[in-house]
Amino acid sequence: MKALVLSGGTGSRLRPITYTSAKQLVPIANKPILYYGLESIARCGIEQVGVVVGETANEVMDSLGDGSSFGLEITYIPQDSPKGLAHAVLISKEFLKEDDFVMYLGDNFILHGIEGFVEKFKRSSGDINAQILLAKVSDPERFGVAVLGEDGTVLRLVEKPKVPPSDLALVGVYIFDKEIHRAVRAIKPSERDELEITDAIDWLLEDGLIVRSSIVEGYWKDLGEPEALLEGNRLALELLVGKIEGTVKEDSFVQGRVVIESGAEVLGSVIRGPVIVGANAKVINSFVGPYSSIGPNCLVENSEIDYSIILKDAVVKDVGHMEGSIVGKAASVLRRGSKPSALRLVIGDKSRVELP
Ligand code: DAU
Repeated sequence: MKALVLSGGTGSRLRPITYTSAKQLVPIANKPILYYGLESIARCGIEQVGVVVGETANEVMDSLGDGSSFGLEITYIPQDSPKGLAHAVLISKEFLKEDDFVMYLGDNFILHGIEGFVEKFKRSSGDINAQILLAKVSDPERFGVAVLGEDGTVLRLVEKPKVPPSDLALVGVYIFDKEIHRAVRAIKPSERDELEITDAIDWLLEDGLIVRSSIVEGYWKDLGEPEALLEGNRLALELLVGKIEGTVKEDSFVQGRVVIESGAEVLGSVIRGPVIVGANAKVINSFVGPYSSIGPNCLVENSEIDYSIILKDAVVKDVGHMEGSIVGKAASVLRRGSKPSALRLVIGDKSRVELP
């Protein structure tokens, strides 16, 4: 079995928070979202992974390299423009050949990984042609939506329906056998001018082929909204296993599940987990409260931070209490005068904010 990881597209919806990043590389709990998927693929015993890249190809390639750090062998597949998920399959035929493969959308986060899903397909291999992963969502109109029969078999799929026929959304993980190649060649572009994988799977169903589904819990996506990014961060931090590799000075107090990465220093501060403090970051005379991620090389000084994401190289100094906030890469938030009781900020990469 191979894997096809989709990491194309523009990422523009995330601006200005992550102006410089591919959306698949946005860190949650200090780790790019894409890494969670690749690590899970590696745990499935899959080695050969095709990564479809677009406008942000250089960033993705710099980050993943040849895949060896994940125990994977990555082949990059350039896509000239984001013409759809089925188009990504179409251009990857040479890499995929006739092998079964997992297709994984790089901006989706499956909290407990895909090992069980892959195992299930392997057990019925030969009997089924595709397997889709579904999750119950409150806003199905933003997804591909599945209609299941009483016995749970997939009857039909609709992409982003105005009136959703169910609340079961297609999560961005699919497994296909070779039949999908006939489907992606047969379908036509949709109203939004994309070759939709949803239409390709529907084509399989109409051709009498067998598509099964699994329902997953702990699914999250939508990095576009700050609130959603904070929620993804919270979910990932729920799984944190505490580990102190950096230095916590005696004048500091660390409570709960906290990761202090190597080279990080905590002085005169209280850290209440789940919290991650990235490599070489400094937390000085501060409080860092639950569900906060402090990126590598950050400086947090004379501040109280709760339920927030501070991306790498950022500085937060003298700001008083800040919660539900996102501070972009290499941004700085400084306060010159009196401290207010609470702040809520979303600051883009490399910005500088001086509070009065
Ligand atoms: O996330 C789940 C949803 O993903 C499904 O419910 C939908 O059925 C499916 O169509 C897809 O919907 P989106 O419109 O949200 O997909 P998006 O355009 O955001 O692309 C998903 C990922 O695939 C993203 O990491 C970018 C990458 N991509 C996308 C396209 C269209 C590519 O690499 N190439 C492409 O051509």
